[in-house]
Amino acid sequence: MSFAAELHLPQDVIVRGGASHEVGDAAAGLGLERVLIVTDPFFAEQGLAAAVAERLTAAGIVTETFAGVQPDPTTANVEAGLEALHAHGADGVVALGGGSSLDTGKAVAVMAANDGAVADFVGYHQIPRPGLPLIAIPTTAGTGSEVTRVTVITDAESDRKLMILDDHLLPRVALADFELTRSCPPDLTAHVGVDSLTHAIEAYVSAKANPITDALALRAAELLQGHLRRAYHDGEDAEAREAMMLGATLAGAAFSNASVALVHGMSRPIGAHFHIPHGLSNAVLLPTVTRFSLEGARPRYAELARAMGLGDDADALVDELDALNAELGVPSLSGLGIEREHFDRVKADMAQAALDSGSPGFNPREAIAEEIVGLYNAIY
Ligand SMILES: NC(=O)c1ccc[n+]([C@@H]2O[C@H](COP(=O)([O-])OP(=O)(O)OC[C@H]3O[C@@H](n4cnc5c(N)ncnc54)[C@H](O)[C@@H]3O)[C@@H](O)[C@H]2O)c1
Ligand SMILES: [Zn+2]
Repeated sequence: MSFAAELHLPQDVIVRGGASHEVGDAAAGLGLERVLIVTDPFFAEQGLAAAVAERLTAAGIVTETFAGVQPDPTTANVEAGLEALHAHGADGVVALGGGSSLDTGKAVAVMAANDGAVADFVGYHQIPRPGLPLIAIPTTAGTGSEVTRVTVITDAESDRKLMILDDHLLPRVALADFELTRSCPPDLTAHVGVDSLTHAIEAYVSAKANPITDALALRAAELLQGHLRRAYHDGEDAEAREAMMLGATLAGAAFSNASVALVHGMSRPIGAHFHIPHGLSNAVLLPTVTRFSLEGARPRYAELARAMGLGDDADALVDELDALNAELGVPSLSGLGIEREHFDRVKADMAQAALDSGSPGFNPREAIAEEIVGLYNAIY
């Protein structure tokens, strides 16, 4: 057993109800004077972006808001955000919203200090210089993007999801405030919650797991398992919302340092081709891919089952993932309205894109392209 470990996180991670109210102090503490708020149209209309701007103004900071983020953000979103940043003369970024807004804010902050295009930085540790200071405020529980060194941006031309991992993508401050997730409707709560659970599971069985990420992943799995159904059935259950936010943050910290694996590798091409929300495509894949991977790390999956209160058997984990999908109403790909002909035409390309992303390389059981196509067939 190795006791070596490594962890990269934002310098400040604050998880508590009301944490988003601290954005003014956080920005002032970073010495910021002109901030660009990056968010999506929903939060511009609903008033949260204005409330955050007010708190920044009260701290003496001049703000501008860019609300052009779309779900599964594109390189065009990043370019438009960068233009807004330059027009405002911003010296820092506040990213506010779900994973799409956070990922766009992270990319904009980094592109402000680096020449080239987003596509130039795809892969691991390819960004030469640190970006502008970034404060991340998640509204879903969630992607964990507020604590990860990852951004996922869809190439507007090729429709491929570009995965970028680099320490320069880490926010300086993460303000994880579960109060902001109360407005998530049940389906969104389910999808982002299964995304978090997938992060915890994949981080724990990843070839890059280490003792610190293990601790984070196990605790995350326990919290998410214990509260996802509650948050889904009753969005006003504050305790469940709070636990989900902590679980999502811990799971993000785990996978950002230990990597995700085959589920995420296979999920991104589904999102890119069929525009299925990230958490939903993970949910569709999770039981089937876990069943496939089980033999590669039975004891580790059994540890997860134990942390989740499912007993000592790895098979109980897969049974539970099936049951969870049934309860959350997660369909198959055909149930999502994806046409067979379209699916058959792109599945080999999707398998190749999954392998190219690098994530499947950390899976406990290796999958070759033909096996990945077989797994895609199984979830159709
Ligand atoms: N960087 C990372 O580490 C990481 C990890 C996982 C996923 N991702 C990426 O994150 C994106 C998905 O993010 P997401 O699942 O959080 O959703 P999202 O940001 O795409 O938002 C989906 C929809 O939900 C709405 N929404 C968000 N919060 C809400 C709230 N509190 N109340 C009501 N509506 C709300 C948004 O306005 C939007 O319409 C994908 O692009 C995925 O690739 C990134
Ligand atoms: Zn994810």
